Amino acid sequence: MQLLALSGSLRAASSNAILLQACRRLAPDNVQIMLYTDMGLLPHFNPDLENQLPPIVADLRSRIAQADGLLISCPEYARGIPGSFKNLLDWLVASTTFPGKPVMLLNASPRACAAQAALRLVLNTMSAQLIDEAAITVQLLAKNMDEQQVAADTEIAVQLTQGLQAFVLAIRKHQETTANP
Ligand SMILES: Cc1cc2nc3c(=O)[nH]c(=O)nc-3n(C[C@H](O)[C@H](O)[C@H](O)COP(=O)(O)O)c2cc1C
Repeated sequence: MQLLALSGSLRAASSNAILLQACRRLAPDNVQIMLYTDMGLLPHFNPDLENQLPPIVADLRSRIAQADGLLISCPEYARGIPGSFKNLLDWLVASTTFPGKPVMLLNASPRACAAQAALRLVLNTMSAQLIDEAAITVQLLAKNMDEQQVAADTEIAVQLTQGLQAFVLAIRKHQETTANP
């Protein structure tokens, strides 16, 4: 199973990216997690370009299409979704493969509740399949932990492992239902 991980932060030492990297370390057997790293290179969304898609956008859509599910971890800026991540999502609105895509939402900061609520609204509007039993919130803000430390932290590792297991189970059920409606 292939999962694509999207961080909503462009920071080199992003706690959201670190959380996703820790997920990669803790992934169940036969589950590969790829991190998307080109968000900062995407052009500003413009619906006029829908018929002549910039190659980097076509590449993003193709990665989404190939993924069985998406892991999304996004920070909060000024009580909302960071512009660069909303820009990425806007490029996916008209894509045919995003609707129905299973999504595991991660949150690296419990106080980032406004961005999480906004993200849920946007993703539901885009017809993503939010897997609630897989969603997790952990406190990484200001802890300066690297991915190894996050993956080795007993409490966080249990949350991530359980969340990933619930996510994989939900994807398998979803795929079975789609194959045998
Ligand atoms: C310009 C700016 C605005 C921010 N606004 C909020 C906010 O409204 N609410 C909040 O909880 N954190 C806010 N933060 C804190 C970030 O969410 C926090 O630094 C987070 O760790 C960034 O994610 P990252 O570590 O993945 O880069 C803000 C940070 C910056 C730089």
